[in-house]
Amino acid sequence: MAVCGRIFGIVSRQCNGKQVVVTIPNIRPRPIQGLCINITPLIKSHDLRQFYKLFPGHDTECRQVNGKLKEAETAAIFSNRSQLEEILNKTHKKEHRMELTEIYDKGDAFFRDKDYGRLLNYVETGFIKKNDRRIFDRFTFRQKCIDAEEANTACSILGIDLKTPVIMSSMTMPIPAIADDALMQSARGLKAAGSLMWTGTPIPGNLKELANSGVPLAANVKPLKNRDKMYADIENILAAGVTWIGVEVDSGQGTKVVDQEMGFDCTPFTAREIEQIKNKVNLPLVCKGVLSQEDAVKCVDAGADAIVISSHGGHTLDYLPHPLQVMDEIVSAVEGRIEIIVDGGFRRGSDVLKGLAFGASLVGLGRPILYGLAAGGDSGVTDVINGITRELSRLMTMVGASDPGRIHRDILVVD
Ligand SMILES: Cc1cc2nc3c(=O)[nH]c(=O)nc-3n(C[C@H](O)[C@H](O)[C@H](O)COP(=O)(O)O)c2cc1C
Repeated sequence: MAVCGRIFGIVSRQCNGKQVVVTIPNIRPRPIQGLCINITPLIKSHDLRQFYKLFPGHDTECRQVNGKLKEAETAAIFSNRSQLEEILNKTHKKEHRMELTEIYDKGDAFFRDKDYGRLLNYVETGFIKKNDRRIFDRFTFRQKCIDAEEANTACSILGIDLKTPVIMSSMTMPIPAIADDALMQSARGLKAAGSLMWTGTPIPGNLKELANSGVPLAANVKPLKNRDKMYADIENILAAGVTWIGVEVDSGQGTKVVDQEMGFDCTPFTAREIEQIKNKVNLPLVCKGVLSQEDAVKCVDAGADAIVISSHGGHTLDYLPHPLQVMDEIVSAVEGRIEIIVDGGFRRGSDVLKGLAFGASLVGLGRPILYGLAAGGDSGVTDVINGITRELSRLMTMVGASDPGRIHRDILVVD
């Protein structure tokens, strides 16, 4: 029997607009058939009085079913599609998913007004920004789409499972300036996207809270001249319960934005120190800021578990190469003994696919995460990761790489 516009407890969140037959224990003796909407978002986004206005006459039924309205257990069944669509159009608060261009434009406008927006600039001449895009643009894709299988972007690395190989690059500043709880917003947004959060310097005071949010979390230390302070930082990071620990091997001369030195009192690590840190921490150790096969091999020999091939987003030295320019030498030198992560100028799914094709397991985003936060808080961060991952997945399907393990260098056509 078709039931018109009644509200019942129901089984699935995925039921919007679908024809369903439902048996509701203890409520109706017979199964009911009809078109279904999940009204959980309505209940969440409206107060109950508003809800009853939208569904007049159903409050009693509703209460009978659930006792009180409960998340993910409530749906309405309608007998015909036009009635269902009318209700959906009238009442269903459409969730606005931001596309990447919108996020980047909004983020850019947000930071342009702010004093701390200068932190998104590059060191000295700004060569790195120009070079990043020039290098990405040298590669196009070899399309192999006949018999293509729908791609799955999920991956596992150093003990964690992710829905996407797109992660946050190490950053703390200027996140707390964007909003009081912007670090937690980042954690929630990244967790929702099935990604990884990575803090930088200074080490956030709420690192433990971030770890407790359930997002896989990595945290970095810089090679401070005051090594006692650096080891104390490592202890604090370990106590917070992070997933990985990172050492910034490229911060030996501090960082710089345009002409302004950012005031870190650093001196380069020795290979022996990296080994000592690895022996001290019972966690995967990631060396961030590798740009040559020589440094990569030293990281492998020191016992590191992964390296990030990175020019630090153009915050350390001017005229560093883009990671794709040095990845071949590094990938062949490390011979698969270590995980490879890459970052620097990755903005779209196509950029990410190029990084993976060169041999990275994960690709990090710096500024795009800041843009997402500025444009939409936690859901802005989710939208950035999901947007890039959707683009990646379309491309993977059409180049014949149905999962990240099947992305090979031969999908790239070189200019
Ligand atoms: C505002 C800002 C702050 C950063 N802070 C850190 C940091 O504390 N530690 C670190 O290792 N890298 C830091 N980075 C570099 C990023 O981890 C990453 O390497 C870089 O941003 C990637 O390039 P992209 O911004 O073009 O994606 C920072 C980058 C930016 C833009």
